[in-house]
Amino acid sequence: MLYELIYRSTAKPGLTEEELKTILTTARQFNSENNITGCLLFHEGQFLQLLEGDFQVLLDLYDKIKRDPRHREFLLLHMKESPQRVYDRWTMAFKTLNNNELRDYSGVSEFTELETEEEESSISVELFQAISQDMVSH
Ligand SMILES: Cc1cc2nc3c(=O)[nH]c(=O)nc-3n(C[C@H](O)[C@H](O)[C@H](O)COP(=O)(O)O)c2cc1C
Repeated sequence: MLYELIYRSTAKPGLTEEELKTILTTARQFNSENNITGCLLFHEGQFLQLLEGDFQVLLDLYDKIKRDPRHREFLLLHMKESPQRVYDRWTMAFKTLNNNELRDYSGVSEFTELETEEEESSISVELFQAISQDMVSH
């Protein structure tokens, strides 16, 4: 059964480009071997990540990601069964959003405005859907 998980977190202060590259290399390796797809977004020191895959594989991976000292302050925004993959061609897409892009895509100005209440968490789902469409067409 396919599930979709979205969380946000705060990057450790001073996280470098190099560290970000290492995270993506590790992630893409593991994800391709474990049938996980998704997208990692970065804005003003905050991560927002969507992960898609088997329920148990996702939970185990989220547990592992939460123990990673390169980020902290996790908030699980969304965990639902999903009819189809949004990022089926991406073992982990990555995009840094500037303020205008984030506002255009989602209407919020910070990831921290996203909360677990139904309305806000659905904004994060829509944000990832909009970004995935742009990634396909460009
Ligand atoms: C923001 C962020 C996103 C990550 N996303 C993934 C991911 O999608 N898949 C993955 O395998 N590891 C991801 N990682 C890395 C894991 O936290 C962990 O370092 C990696 O799985 C290796 O774990 P291990 O050393 O226990 O094997 C991410 C780390 C960070 C900081």
